[in-house]
Amino acid sequence: MLESVVLLAIVLLSAAQAPVGSRKQSIAHRGASAYAPEHTIAAYTRAIEQGADFVEQDLAVTKDGILVCIHDLTLERTTNVRDVFPHRYTTDVAGASQLTDSGAPPARHWLVNDFTLAEIKRLDAGSWFDPRFSGATVPTFQEAVDLVHGKAGMYPELKDPEFYRRRGIRTDVLLATALRKNGLVANPKTPMIIQSFDDEALKHLARDLPQVPRVWLVDAASGARLDSADKLRDIARWASGVAPNKAVVQAHPEIVEWAHALGLTVTAWTFAASTTTFPTVRDEMAKFLYDLGVDAVFTNNPDQFPRR
Ligand code: G3P
Ligand code: CA
Repeated sequence: MLESVVLLAIVLLSAAQAPVGSRKQSIAHRGASAYAPEHTIAAYTRAIEQGADFVEQDLAVTKDGILVCIHDLTLERTTNVRDVFPHRYTTDVAGASQLTDSGAPPARHWLVNDFTLAEIKRLDAGSWFDPRFSGATVPTFQEAVDLVHGKAGMYPELKDPEFYRRRGIRTDVLLATALRKNGLVANPKTPMIIQSFDDEALKHLARDLPQVPRVWLVDAASGARLDSADKLRDIARWASGVAPNKAVVQAHPEIVEWAHALGLTVTAWTFAASTTTFPTVRDEMAKFLYDLGVDAVFTNNPDQFPRR
């Protein structure tokens, strides 16, 4: 009984923060990542300049417990860590669910969580994208807050919380602490939405930080998690929205109606000029927003968002 009351309160608080049917919203995916290296201050700055409603931060944790903005659990795809710390790799990445392939076996990985912030700040996070961005660094979440706060919303993603739990680290607690410290819980100047593929982390946050909307990510391989109104009803007990891969929405457009009937928002990902199969990425986003009825989209090209 008590649990039902708590969950009802969570649903009501979340609905108050994330009304279905309000203005369509753009989320700059890893910043304006079509124009600047993902998750750099340059990419976040361009996103703000291009009018993004939200700027996304994928979050990892350093060896000394600092939240940093980087998509992968590892450093090798988007920094020069191989050059700076050639011997600091590991081949033991048990429990990591989202690794990029780094070559022939045994695969060598430079885990963010094996490096201190001071070490990570020595890395170049821009040259891989374009030499013009040489010298860009991996931002801390605090640096992202300092930049974005008051200029756009923020949309942090807890990346692979299970990997960190196995290491004794609660990323949901680190994020909740950071949001409280910065006055970012229900701050109208800086709308905040937390996202994760990990339902356990979101369930913790539903209890710990119920005022902050929580969006559950669903990839193309897991579309069956949203294939009935009953499943969505369960999700609505701890999430305020779902964020399916766009292929899931295209295959099952009825998800949008089911979700909206339960007060859940629907956010589709990811829309990029470099990969769209439509004439333009603007056309593709317009189809999902205005024909299929999703509430928001993650895009690498916030300047192409079709505002109506
Ligand atoms: O978070 C939404 C979308 O960004 C999920 O994909 O892999 O780019 O984090 P990913
Ligand atoms: Ca993401």
